[in-house]
Amino acid sequence: MEFIKVTKAYDKYIALIELNRPKELNALNLQLMGEVRDALKELDQDDEVRVIIITGNERAFAAGADIKQMAGKTTVDMWKTDQFSTWDQINKTRKPIIAAVSGFALGGGCELAMTCDMIVASETAQFGQPEIKIGVMPGAGGTQRLTKALGKAKAMEMVLTGKFISAEEAEKLGLVNRVVPVELYMTEALKLAKEIASMSPLAVQMAKESVKRSFEVPLEEGLHFERKNFYMLFSSEDQKEGMNAFVEKRKADFKGK
Ligand code: HXC
Repeated sequence: MEFIKVTKAYDKYIALIELNRPKELNALNLQLMGEVRDALKELDQDDEVRVIIITGNERAFAAGADIKQMAGKTTVDMWKTDQFSTWDQINKTRKPIIAAVSGFALGGGCELAMTCDMIVASETAQFGQPEIKIGVMPGAGGTQRLTKALGKAKAMEMVLTGKFISAEEAEKLGLVNRVVPVELYMTEALKLAKEIASMSPLAVQMAKESVKRSFEVPLEEGLHFERKNFYMLFSSEDQKEGMNAFVEKRKADFKGK
């Protein structure tokens, strides 16, 4: 891995993927995105890992797709490269992903944060879809996910003007879960990850799948899907452990079985 670092914390329950192209503000070139995809695929299969955090550094989560890599490309080049199959794969990750964002989260960087399930932001974070300023538009989900998160008016303004919003505004608009001082954003992301990692990993993954399904299907179908996942959890040991622990007034010890 040249452009990311992967480490584990808290009894290996939490995996941390750090984007690591600091001089280029973590611009997302094809290799970096391929590394993120491969790491997520591996961590999704890793029984020890329950929650994944993706982060950058204090100055930048990621300032977008690598403009220098894209500048000379034609439509045919872009079509053949098929970079979005990488993004589709990332979106299929079953385990919850938290984006810990400080500094710039722009273009593909904002889209990567929104592809994650939750965002913990430092108060220095800035979110934006500035592609319009370089003659294109968002391509990795920005027009869809931003609109679903902020509603039409705000999303339209951001996408058509390229204007950034602050962490505070992003929190007000519902794009991020919480905003904390810059020295605390990783601590806060780890705290959230730890809390989720103490739950049944099966229930967590099925609940994630169900919440995500609400963006794809009509209510009736979503309710049906939710119900199936709910029933399915009754064949897990974790369901017995969780409910028995409640009755016995003790803390549940979930094994992911
Ligand atoms: C390539 C980038 C980059 C990017 C920054 N750099 N963003 N290189 N692609 N997206 C490089 C700069 O060229 C520079 O390298 C170094 O990082 C530091 O950046 P500066 O511009 O000198 O820093 P600063 O003045 O602080 O400005 C920060 C900034 C600005 C506001 C974030 O860099 C910027 O506007 N970046 C582009 C943001 C953007 O348009 N993102 C959308 C990309 S399109 P050198 O070597 O020159 O000093 C996109 C499409 C997504 O994301 C869909 C497909 C996935």
